[in-house]
Amino acid sequence: MSKIKAPQPGFPTTRLRRNRRNGWTRKLVAENHLSVQDLIWPIFVHNGKEPKIKIPTMPDVERLSVQQLVEQVGQAKTLGIPMVAVFPVVNPELKSAEAEEAYNKDNLICQAIAAIKDAHDGIGVMSDVALDPFTSHGHDGLLRNGHIVNDETLEVLCKQAIVQAKAGCDVIAPSDMMDGRVGRIRAALDEQGFENVLIMAYAAKYASNLYGPFRDAVGSAPNLGGGDKKTYQMDPANSDEALREVELDIKEGADMVMVKPGIFYLDIIQRVKSKFLMPTFAFQVSGEYAMLKTAGTQGIINFDQVFKESLIAFKRAGASGILTYGALEIAKKLN
Ligand code: PBG
Repeated sequence: MSKIKAPQPGFPTTRLRRNRRNGWTRKLVAENHLSVQDLIWPIFVHNGKEPKIKIPTMPDVERLSVQQLVEQVGQAKTLGIPMVAVFPVVNPELKSAEAEEAYNKDNLICQAIAAIKDAHDGIGVMSDVALDPFTSHGHDGLLRNGHIVNDETLEVLCKQAIVQAKAGCDVIAPSDMMDGRVGRIRAALDEQGFENVLIMAYAAKYASNLYGPFRDAVGSAPNLGGGDKKTYQMDPANSDEALREVELDIKEGADMVMVKPGIFYLDIIQRVKSKFLMPTFAFQVSGEYAMLKTAGTQGIINFDQVFKESLIAFKRAGASGILTYGALEIAKKLN
């Protein structure tokens, strides 16, 4: 290898502002680009009669009936969004300590997945595997003597993944943070002939305070009460641990990995992407979205501009794509 150093001229020969002077040069030298292909749209589905129900803590986001959901996924597809992530709002009377509804093959999430797949092809459907929408205590796993038990939870998660795959789910997204769940779910899917169903692991998922509006949206907040998920989700103080989590999920068969939340965790996205070279996704979570929207509505910031800036920041950090509640809205503007 030649040791010749590239010339390093300084000012005034070098003026970095020359490349910034015109819009067209700025476009030419841009290192990252945002497009609709980067977007995954999370949507809430409910089984009531109302086509749409507002979510007070998530401005401009609504819980949709199955019929509305199918229609809106059609819009997303037309705009070129590659995938949607569907989250069910489960009726309180169907929630239980053991989360049996999670593996009822006719449950709301399975109905929603089947309805989308029936109406549209060419757009991916992803759904979470975790028990929190279905548990009376609001936790992602089973509770025994006040503790979330790991191995017993894995059995239920596998059953949940299978019913969702049977309904037509393309991408199973374990979001529960139990140890060993990706490997078990992969094996369960393969055993049932679903070897082509993908797994996007919520690999580095933090015990964040930014999930509040999501828990309002799916109605798990009252179940969880004042509880937290610190015994299974990660401590926001940690970064090396995120790499260990991601490495395990890759070894267990994850096709794609995710870091969650988003903007506060860009360092994690960058470390994960550069270490593992995996398709790496960021989840701009409900609290982040709500903060931006609320500040925009109050005239404190320009929502469109700040929102775009947040999304390009994910790309710069190395994200392959972003889950964001603003996907449909921004897709209309990007096209
Ligand atoms: C369920 C799940 C959560 C989110 C995605 N899947 C909430 C949680 O873990 O409590 C959060 C998404 C968001 O805040 O937008 N395990």
